[in-house]
Amino acid sequence: MRISRRGTLAPRAHVDDLEAAYGQRKDVCQMCAGSVGYGPAPAALQAVSRLEEHLGGGYGPVAGESALLANLREKLFLHNGIDVDAQRAAVLVTAGANQAFVNVLLAVADSGDAVILFAPYYFSHYSAALFAGLRPIVLNSNSHESVAGALQYYSENLLHSEVPSAETVRAVVVCTPCNPTGSVLDNAELWKIAHICEAHDWWLIIDEAYEHFDFEMQLLERDGELTLTSIVSPSCLTGLPQRIRRPYLMHNRSIHIFSMSKSFGMAGYRVGYILCPQTAPIQDGADLFDALVRVNDTIVTHASRQSQLLALCVLRDPACISTLQSRRLRVLLSVRELYQFAFKMVRAGLIELTPSMMEVLRTCQRNGRPFRIGAFYLFCRALPKRNGSTRVARASDLELCHFLADSYRVLVAPGSIFGTDARECWIRVSVGACCCNDIHGLRDALRRLAAGIAAFQEQKLARKVSSVDNDNLVVSTTF
Ligand SMILES: Cc1ncc(COP(=O)(O)O)c(C=O)c1O
Repeated sequence: MRISRRGTLAPRAHVDDLEAAYGQRKDVCQMCAGSVGYGPAPAALQAVSRLEEHLGGGYGPVAGESALLANLREKLFLHNGIDVDAQRAAVLVTAGANQAFVNVLLAVADSGDAVILFAPYYFSHYSAALFAGLRPIVLNSNSHESVAGALQYYSENLLHSEVPSAETVRAVVVCTPCNPTGSVLDNAELWKIAHICEAHDWWLIIDEAYEHFDFEMQLLERDGELTLTSIVSPSCLTGLPQRIRRPYLMHNRSIHIFSMSKSFGMAGYRVGYILCPQTAPIQDGADLFDALVRVNDTIVTHASRQSQLLALCVLRDPACISTLQSRRLRVLLSVRELYQFAFKMVRAGLIELTPSMMEVLRTCQRNGRPFRIGAFYLFCRALPKRNGSTRVARASDLELCHFLADSYRVLVAPGSIFGTDARECWIRVSVGACCCNDIHGLRDALRRLAAGIAAFQEQKLARKVSSVDNDNLVVSTTF
């Protein structure tokens, strides 16, 4: 007897293990999972209970309930500025964005093909590629100025030498706002990526699970104190001014994946959707949408009809937009707090951010220009490099996570699940679910996190840290 190789290839779900170990402890601040701290709007939950009895028990349409599809088109028009019919696009409902991603891979690539991901990546993208029998080619966006730069370098210099001739790259996967780094690809960069994809005939898959968590901030320095302020009022419809809205359907080859989990607090109900171009028949009389429908039909037939009904009630709720706005505001406040903490920690030499985030920080400090941060995560290295050299202590990110949870009551996710070296001790700190209503609680947890990181460094690097106080980080750095 044996089990499949693919069943063991995917990285272990450390987040689940950590949550199982510490999730029940009331005194531990949960900053590990990528969930939000609210559920669907109560009015929508009441509305669904009245409608459910009309569903019956039968199967529904494979691409999604027609009423929900109509509402999603409206949402795409109002929030994303895309007229689905006029732009010859199509929408298909799935059981969450994760399933949407698997469906897309199965529809655009055959086993033995390759897909390009960028590290740090969302771990399910990596696992899904393996499960679909694809080779994930992981590019390190950190060693280049940008994701587009990394892709361009790869396509010009390495593609022919590194990809065996029998293997074909089918797609490039980007996640913006990014889980885990929070970085947001601006339009110019997305267009560059789209042009490279066009030149090589690759699909471009864009995961937009955090589409509503895209914030513009400014870093101000007054009397040596750093303050982070948000620029855009979360009360405008998408929270984004027109000039930085995302372009949709670039070159008829971009496939967009959305989720109801984060924005609408519906993670447990499993509803996501795909927006894709309606292409002319590509192969054997079928186009991309046909292939997506066939895959959906085979794997889940369709997303749960009850969940689709709830999604419909959520989108139809007249208070939907204002609910969304107030949630964005709460998340924005937590993200601002998180990054304020991060910048102080960077200054104190206690953590390092990804090179692109460090560059954002440097530029902002120099010219006070606004910058974008998305999602609700901080991705940082808790054993920072010193004088440019890579110091690797005998430590692992998982050990650090256990240490922080056991001794400092903060639960964070290890960076290696996102593709970083475990010995470099990267961690992802999530403020999506924790302390959403309680900024003081969040500050307190961040203070403990700072103290925990300092103590870990002291243990591992014989570093002397005199005092850590998040309100006014005072750190003496004697090595
Ligand atoms: C980038 C990204 N895509 C997709 C998902 C999963 O979304 P869903 O719950 O809709 O499957 C997540 C969840 O953390 C995510 O971070």
